[in-house]
Amino acid sequence: MDSHPTVSAPDVTSQRLRLRPAHDGDVAGLIELQTDPRVRAHLGGPRPRGAVEQYFRANGVGALAAKPGAYVIADRQTDVLLGTIVLDRRAADLPGHVVEQGGELELSYLLRHDRWGAGLAFEAGTALLRAAADELPDQPVLVVTQTANERSHRLAARLGFRTTGTFEQYAAEQTLAVADLHTFRTPVAGRPATPPQPA
Ligand SMILES: CC(C)(COP(=O)(O)OP(=O)(O)OC[C@H]1O[C@@H](n2cnc3c(N)ncnc32)[C@H](O)[C@@H]1OP(=O)(O)O)[C@@H](O)C(=O)NCCC(=O)NCCS
Repeated sequence: MDSHPTVSAPDVTSQRLRLRPAHDGDVAGLIELQTDPRVRAHLGGPRPRGAVEQYFRANGVGALAAKPGAYVIADRQTDVLLGTIVLDRRAADLPGHVVEQGGELELSYLLRHDRWGAGLAFEAGTALLRAAADELPDQPVLVVTQTANERSHRLAARLGFRTTGTFEQYAAEQTLAVADLHTFRTPVAGRPATPPQPA
């Protein structure tokens, strides 16, 4: 059994969105996400379109579709790709951890540029973290984002993440933020919103 699982729901729905595995119809949207300089501004810059197209011609969406905890953010009505969201594990050999052995849950998100500013990433993040919290034991969840990435910081703060420090990676300052997974659980009558802490 995987000792470091992530969320396993096949899909997750919210008011405007469906989080689902990638399929072949997503290729154009995935190419746009990887080649748009505005989306990639704090993620190492845009990838060359030719190389990205070649990658998808050769591999399709298989890698993304098979990755545990990786979802396409799709419009619930039209199923069109609006972005991607991933809840996976932060490898122990990377910098930026809150537990000594690493491997914490880590949330990351991308939206198509024309969909910024409508609360869609917040809606997707809330829904995915809730699904994970309802399934997994309580544990820390990380968001790692370039310190210069103000939109991402605002989103993380809105979701409930608090900044714990900074570190250098990819020749840029990164900010580490953390939240307790169970603060995202579906409210249940009679259950406290935040689980009681051990004495
Ligand atoms: C990071 C990113 C996903 C944030 O997208 P976003 O649309 O700004 O985030 P949210 O979903 O939280 O939307 C918040 C905005 O929508 C507005 N909004 C409109 N309707 C809303 C609603 N119903 N609910 C919440 N917010 C709403 C808010 O006022 C806010 O606007 P503001 O930031 O201009 O003040 C996006 O900028 C992105 O894809 N960036 C590139 C990829 C990246 O750097 N990812 C980070 C790596 S982890």
